[in-house]
Amino acid sequence: MEFSVAVIPGDGIGPEIIREAKKVLDKAGKVYGHRFHYTELLMGGASIDVHGVPLTEETLATAKKSDAVLLGAVGGNVGVSNWYSLPPELRPEAGLLKIRKGLELFANLRPALLFEDLKKACPLKEEIIGEGFDMIVVRELTGGLYFGERKTVVENGLRKAYDTLTYDEEEIRRIARAGFETARKRRKKLCSVDKANVIDSSRLWRQVVKEVGKDYPDVELSDMLVDNCAMQLVKDPGQFDVILTENMFGDILSDEASMITGSIGMLPSASLGKTKLGLYEPSHGSAPDIAGQNKANPMATILSAAMMLRYSFDLEEEALKIEEAVRKVLSKGYRTVDIMSPGNVLVGTDKMGDLIAEEVK
Ligand code: IPM
Ligand code: MG
Repeated sequence: MEFSVAVIPGDGIGPEIIREAKKVLDKAGKVYGHRFHYTELLMGGASIDVHGVPLTEETLATAKKSDAVLLGAVGGNVGVSNWYSLPPELRPEAGLLKIRKGLELFANLRPALLFEDLKKACPLKEEIIGEGFDMIVVRELTGGLYFGERKTVVENGLRKAYDTLTYDEEEIRRIARAGFETARKRRKKLCSVDKANVIDSSRLWRQVVKEVGKDYPDVELSDMLVDNCAMQLVKDPGQFDVILTENMFGDILSDEASMITGSIGMLPSASLGKTKLGLYEPSHGSAPDIAGQNKANPMATILSAAMMLRYSFDLEEEALKIEEAVRKVLSKGYRTVDIMSPGNVLVGTDKMGDLIAEEVK
């Protein structure tokens, strides 16, 4: 089969990790007889440098027309890069928010899986890791604080800033359904995370999730307050199957979940909407401090490409093959620096991509 993929390398380590993901995709294409047609697009700082804006309408339109979008990372060093002297809506991250919103990708899936061979890289004690963990954060991606009205003003000589957190019931319902559907395909446990003891949007969230839950009697639903969840993730991560939560809580909790998989360099993500068009990106940032040094871990991006095959192209076998290849390379002891433990073999970004591509056969 043939697929069109809009590829956005972005900034920092973006181009390096995207190169490796394409390498692995092309190998899978060769083995299974598919062709991926890539269109490279600019976003983030790379787009600001050329067009003065982090995402042009034209780029967004091209992304809309493709079968899927594969993204590296955007952003630079806050406080160092010139991009951050621009107004917020013209900074690199605004491009990312605009493409998520523009493609209506409201459901962000972030699987946090501890590979058996990475147990040593996990910062938690062995007795806490136990059998290991395999959970997924389902994060609402186009609402909440990220997209509410915000302003910085001066009132009575004092600077004051506000951001608003809004959800309507339909926004909650559709992400709740995505959460329940995800749980249904896994261990059928959904934990909805909110701050219902304090904020209204969370109280509505909890009610609506419960209502949607009536359609999923086979899924066990629980609620948890976000501060408790942050604690439970390091106390007993094995208790979670699917965590369903709003935009900012999901941003924070998914970083926390990623670290206990050994490194944020391991966490892929899929951003999905109502159609098959999805955006796939590692959950980590552009790591400008190590950009261009062949040090970045390409696994999160490669695993994101596997998610693209699964969710946008319905190529489950091919996706599993890539995931298996990552597992094999880890079991052979190869590591990028972020997941390095004594006794392992240290490799760079490009070599890691080669090794994984080799295992796709
Ligand atoms: C993420 C990132 C983004 C977010 C930033 C770069 C806007 O942290 O994808 O988790 O907060 O969503
Ligand atoms: Mg984040």
